[in-house]
Amino acid sequence: MPGPKPQPVQHLADYRPYPFTLSGTHLDVTLAPRGTIVRARLELVPGALPVDLVLDGGRGLDLRALTIDGHAPDPAHIRRDDETLTIAAAALPSAPFALETEVAIDPQDNTAFEGLYLSGGIFCTQCEAEGFRHITFYPDRPDVMTTFRVIIRSDMPVLLSNGNPVRQEPGLAEWHDPWPKPAYLFALVAGDLVAVSDRFTTRSGRDVALNVWVRPGDQDRAGFAMESLIKSMRWDEDVYGREYDLDVFNIVAVDDFNMGAMENKGLNIFNSKLVLASPDTATDTDYERIEAVIAHEYFHNWTGNRITCRDWFQLCLKEGLTVFRDQQFTSDLRSAAVKRIEDVQTLRARQFREDQGPLAHPPRPDRYEEINNFYTATVYEKGAEVIGMLKRLVGDEGYARALDLYFDRHDGDAATIEDWLLVFEDATGRDLSQFKRWYTDAGTPMLTMEEAWQDGTLTLTFAQSTPPTPGQPAKPARVIPIAVGLIGPNGDEVAPTRVLEMTEAQQSFAFEGLGARPVASVLRGFSAPVMLRRQMDDATRAFLLAHDTDPFARWEAGRELALSALTDLSQGRDAGADYITAIGALAADDAADPAFRALCLTLPGEEEIATRLASLGVTPDPDAIHAARDDLARRIAVAHQDLLARLFDDMAVTGPYSPDAQAAAGRSLRIAALGLLGRIDGGDRAEVLFGIAGNMTERMAALAVLLRLGRGEAALRILHDEFGDNRLVMDKWFSVQVMAAPPDQAVAVARRLAGRKDFDWKNPNRFRALLGGLAANHAGFHAADGSGYAFTADWLMRMDAANPQIAARMSTAFETWPRYDATRRGHAQAALEQIGILEGLSRNTREMISRMIA
Ligand code: ARG
Ligand code: ZN
Repeated sequence: MPGPKPQPVQHLADYRPYPFTLSGTHLDVTLAPRGTIVRARLELVPGALPVDLVLDGGRGLDLRALTIDGHAPDPAHIRRDDETLTIAAAALPSAPFALETEVAIDPQDNTAFEGLYLSGGIFCTQCEAEGFRHITFYPDRPDVMTTFRVIIRSDMPVLLSNGNPVRQEPGLAEWHDPWPKPAYLFALVAGDLVAVSDRFTTRSGRDVALNVWVRPGDQDRAGFAMESLIKSMRWDEDVYGREYDLDVFNIVAVDDFNMGAMENKGLNIFNSKLVLASPDTATDTDYERIEAVIAHEYFHNWTGNRITCRDWFQLCLKEGLTVFRDQQFTSDLRSAAVKRIEDVQTLRARQFREDQGPLAHPPRPDRYEEINNFYTATVYEKGAEVIGMLKRLVGDEGYARALDLYFDRHDGDAATIEDWLLVFEDATGRDLSQFKRWYTDAGTPMLTMEEAWQDGTLTLTFAQSTPPTPGQPAKPARVIPIAVGLIGPNGDEVAPTRVLEMTEAQQSFAFEGLGARPVASVLRGFSAPVMLRRQMDDATRAFLLAHDTDPFARWEAGRELALSALTDLSQGRDAGADYITAIGALAADDAADPAFRALCLTLPGEEEIATRLASLGVTPDPDAIHAARDDLARRIAVAHQDLLARLFDDMAVTGPYSPDAQAAAGRSLRIAALGLLGRIDGGDRAEVLFGIAGNMTERMAALAVLLRLGRGEAALRILHDEFGDNRLVMDKWFSVQVMAAPPDQAVAVARRLAGRKDFDWKNPNRFRALLGGLAANHAGFHAADGSGYAFTADWLMRMDAANPQIAARMSTAFETWPRYDATRRGHAQAALEQIGILEGLSRNTREMISRMIA
């Protein structure tokens, strides 16, 4: 098979410090869409031994001039290849010297959105991970840190960079960032922008100017982002004792952005979908996400910027910790129980899925070809789970002490996972050598539990094992914190939560002195990212769903009921009666949080059902899964018709829209009821709601119901008429049509939409709306005739030439292909191979393909 050809691999074990010290960086940038001129002055201090100076920077940099201490070196001492520029040791002074370069670059041509590029007339940058090398020649690695002085020359009205402004005059701005930073945190923005502004006074009295910069006309949709920023700044002071450290904090929204957002020092750049929101254009989920990502990027100022990563293998040092912090923030601001359940759902949908396939890797990988391929659910979400376990093991106080020590000891450093763990060992006296396996070993541990009851003692026996993952055939036992509580037969809790520390492959724990046999509530709060298997009948699950005091475990009991019903149904076995009864009782409990009830009423997605089947060794059949889920949803609706109708009516919010957690909770229950009722009312309620709802949350929910029933045409037209010129709403318009299409029509719908003039595929959001929408339509993407795979492969090849990061990321749609039947596998493999042999395929996509067909 003609697989992709090998390319250079980076290994953690090969780390060497940079042989020069960089003591200052001066940039002078004259902006032009074509032919931007970048003059750079690097103040370098050589080490004791003479070595060549190697700078990153490839063919895209048009080198116009190069001097060392003002003199041009002999050209024979300068070498260039596709990725670097080398100045021979013989041409370098032995004392500190200044290297000055002048290059020309072409932002307008930059469709990869890495380095300096234009987005809708705005100049902006994205440098993480290795984008700065597309701006100038530089030691582009996170352990090379220095202060930056930046001059921007342009006619654009707003000129921004990192740090504090030191000079503003027509056509020129100068910025100085006093905090040493690696190049990946550099940013520059220039454009016709307007700000929503506010101020924040830090605990120690620093007055900070805050700005959210958007395009003229978008100001009225930037207020929520500003509120979120202020809440984040206060929270980080209150909870972590971390203050902001510059006189200004700028956020800029741009329409073309490869990821969600970026924490550049003092100048965060955001995908506009994570800034702009108004009730008529954004859903409750959008609002919650904006709040969380604004917080995430702000929190990076300490966990990422003041303390950064030594090398990119350590990416989870900043990302895992910052995700963990933004999760804490959201649980403090909203419902902690609901947030935990949502986070576990995300983890399972994305990270467990990743772990189950050929792309599995540890939170700290030890090899990569293209680092941009490792901004994954494993590095981010599992990285956060690992910190949650650490906190559970050392306790809240131990965690607080360790974090204080971390900030004290490593402020200004480029640190490693070893540094991080040592801080916890020093602060708490605990040996974390076994715990470290969570960082170095891939895969989701499978935890099985058995129970024995005798003479008032309940003994729980656990066994752990982790399936093989690429490059890691066998794995030793890990430390697993298992939070357990006991519920007595009358529904009262007889033993509060206790964290069992499992360290062996197999281990027993006894609960003594019990009167009657209790039901064990296990893995409360999802205390470890494992798959728990235990023998439990549906009646006991229903008992926990009714009585567990731990909200996660309670939800989980319902989830397990649903999953066992759905896996049975999808294999042709009758099931679901117990679940339908139990879920009705819970939904009717008006004392419970509506958001919690909504989560319980929402069936697991088809992807999650497939993942469950695969973990049981069953080949998932996408069509059967789809039919099983439809069937169960319809039966719930039939059984609880009156209750659902009552909830739908009761949860109608009158008065002006508010995105807060409580109002959103009511809407989420209303929407859950609507989705189920749509199975039996022909979509009548959805049609009415679409027409009268004043907010996008309810309108999108109604639209999805209508589309599933094949009667969404009118609503689509209305939405298009109203919002045809609003990119973010139109992204939803594209994605919902593909996601909610009946599976046998999904590819045709996607194909028709891709032919539209407004399918601006080079815009990452629009591309993701359509191709990501198809990937999210499980039975549609995995159509047995291979049409979903072929369609996706065609677009990946096209996108790869323009924007490799987006193509590579979207290729993960295929990551589960080995678990399907032979026919589907054949189609998927053919699609992947076709991509793999494409002439000129990027390093990004090449690495992904070769890992997937290894
Ligand atoms: N550090 C950013 C964040 O998590 C993500 C930037 C990722 N960029 C990339 N090109 N992979 O907030
Ligand atoms: Zn981050």
